Amino acid sequence: MVTRSLLVGSGAYLPSRVVTNDELAQTVDTSDAWIRERSGIEERRFAAPGELTSDLAIAAARRAVEDADIDPAALDLIVLATATPDHTFPATAAKVQAALGAFGCIAFDIQAVCTGFLYALATADAYVRVGQARTALVIGAETFSRILDWEDRATCVLFGDGAGAVVLRAGAGQGDATERGILSTHLHADGRQHDLLYVDGGPSSTQTTGYLRMQGKEVFRHAVANMAQVADEALQANGMSIDDLDWLVPHQANQRILDGTARKIGLSADKVISTVARHANTSAASVPLALDEARRDGRIRPGQLVLLEGMGGGFTWGSALIRL
Ligand code: UT7
Repeated sequence: MVTRSLLVGSGAYLPSRVVTNDELAQTVDTSDAWIRERSGIEERRFAAPGELTSDLAIAAARRAVEDADIDPAALDLIVLATATPDHTFPATAAKVQAALGAFGCIAFDIQAVCTGFLYALATADAYVRVGQARTALVIGAETFSRILDWEDRATCVLFGDGAGAVVLRAGAGQGDATERGILSTHLHADGRQHDLLYVDGGPSSTQTTGYLRMQGKEVFRHAVANMAQVADEALQANGMSIDDLDWLVPHQANQRILDGTARKIGLSADKVISTVARHANTSAASVPLALDEARRDGRIRPGQLVLLEGMGGGFTWGSALIRL
């Protein structure tokens, strides 16, 4: 028998405040037409003053736990991906643990920026497969609105706030690709690309939080190449072809990146879940937000083959192939 992580629930939370491109254009030298044409983004959500990453994470986590129909006390593990934690320490995951009443379970944060959810999912999956956890909560939660430089129009129009979460539970099977669960994960990093996407502050360097810096054109080029590579890698590792895939749930940075990736791997655009128009780039939250939306509206159904993938600062990139 083989132990696999089954995805048994999901949840998401978006702050209530909707910020349109036109609203941004009132204070930033930009336009709705430019943002739509270059990124596909129409609006994003911003957390309210005093609303923290942990608040978003807790709301998404509660919905995921409810969807999975489990008692939070049954959780063995909480892994939270964020680049915008409430505090330098302790981990935002510990706050979520306290709010859910899952006292005593393992709780820690993971930092892989926009690939954070994939890193967190792969880590939780490893805990489940080796038997160190039977039930795990994996969260991606961000308040990127707090690290944007409003003088830099090339970046501040692209990001939003939100959170998404999934619950994993150990299941036993023959290890066949037709059975439910996470079939494989693949993670990568290339630290040489640090300067293309980073935040120019931190406890050790400046003792400030800092602001997001990005060389958009370069990141764009790498994003399409890496997202296509990691998709091919996942399918190949499982002896599958692109025709086996029911859905691609990619990190939501730019509609042009989603389109370019789908074209490169030969996937029809109607199999790509896209939320970027309404959420903008929510970094580690974007994949679980998109996954939860498509599960709840009935597009992604039990038994289907779904590829999650991400790419972000570090650089980091990665995938998870799941039979839902
Ligand atoms: O999560 C993973 C990380 N993020 C990404 O994957 C994002 C990757 N990059 C991108 O999505 C795109 O590169 C952007 C959306 C950031 C930019 O699109 P682009 O087609 O690469 O535009 P560009 O940077 O080449 O800028 C074109 C022009 C420039 O003017 P000039 O030099 O041609 O006169 C910019 O100054 O657009 C100007 N520009 C703007 N104009 C209006 C840049 N930002 C804005 C803006 N509004 N907000």
